[in-house]
Amino acid sequence: MIGFPLFPEVASSIAQSVDVLFFFLTGVSAFFSILIFVLILFFAVRYRRREGRPPEQIREAFALEIAWTAIPFLITLIMFVWGSSLYIANARVPDQAMDIYVVGRQWMWKIQHPNGRREINELHVPLGQPVKLTLASQDVIHSFFIPAFRVKTDVVPGRYVTMWFEPTRAGEYHLFCAEYCGTYHSGMIGRVVVLQPEDFQKWLGGVTQEPPEQTGAKLFSDFNCVNCHATGARQRCPQLGGLYGSDVLLEDGNKVKFDETYIRESILDPNAKIVKGYPAVMPTFRGQLSEEQILDLIAYIRSLTPGPNTGVSK
Ligand code: CUA
Repeated sequence: MIGFPLFPEVASSIAQSVDVLFFFLTGVSAFFSILIFVLILFFAVRYRRREGRPPEQIREAFALEIAWTAIPFLITLIMFVWGSSLYIANARVPDQAMDIYVVGRQWMWKIQHPNGRREINELHVPLGQPVKLTLASQDVIHSFFIPAFRVKTDVVPGRYVTMWFEPTRAGEYHLFCAEYCGTYHSGMIGRVVVLQPEDFQKWLGGVTQEPPEQTGAKLFSDFNCVNCHATGARQRCPQLGGLYGSDVLLEDGNKVKFDETYIRESILDPNAKIVKGYPAVMPTFRGQLSEEQILDLIAYIRSLTPGPNTGVSK
């Protein structure tokens, strides 16, 4: 179809398999729709009202009933197994994926790379490298949608969501907000730029911005987190160094993974999950920190090694 593309470009590792599944589902739906309409027409003509005795009624057709139960069951089973395996593959982030943080707000996407490079409504990524996005919303629900990669996720306020993709073609692709989020929702668009790995490294180092863990370290001091979380005599709260990625034992005997979600919750709602052996003395920082500042704090806490930490430097 020259000049009239029906489909977005195929530019990620899962895009082809999503398309194949889509064609299968469309094919099955089309086949049965056509079959049903043809049969309606055929029966309407074949069994129309005529002179004489009406045709004899068939009360039981065992083979037919088995067939119209078993065949659709098998087809839906195929859809389920196929669809869920693709869903699982799409939900499981590869270990070596590179982390990028995204904050949606009315009406823009703010993106931050691990070295501190920030961009708005643009996302630069390297070719052939799995990328994991951690997304948060500053205000209302948005939806992060890259059609060429066949990935889309709702970005819900109050929690982190993740998505991942591996670009397989260099180029520029559309980035949309796919959830109505207010007056300028239609303007909440941007582009994804897939660069060759060496060009990406050049781009990444092109502008020096403060790495998020440094911004986070300042916040850690400015908001006096350091007063309680410092090591030594002043320590009243858990030490944070080296905790990231591990399991933390809670007061109620449960365990929770010390990850982005738990850190964010603990900053905004400190009493939700209290670490065993510590008093519930932390105040909430709800309304005082933006989503980006929380991400900076998380980057800082992630960067801490076990041992004394002061909140000023690593
Ligand atoms: Cu954000 Cu629509």
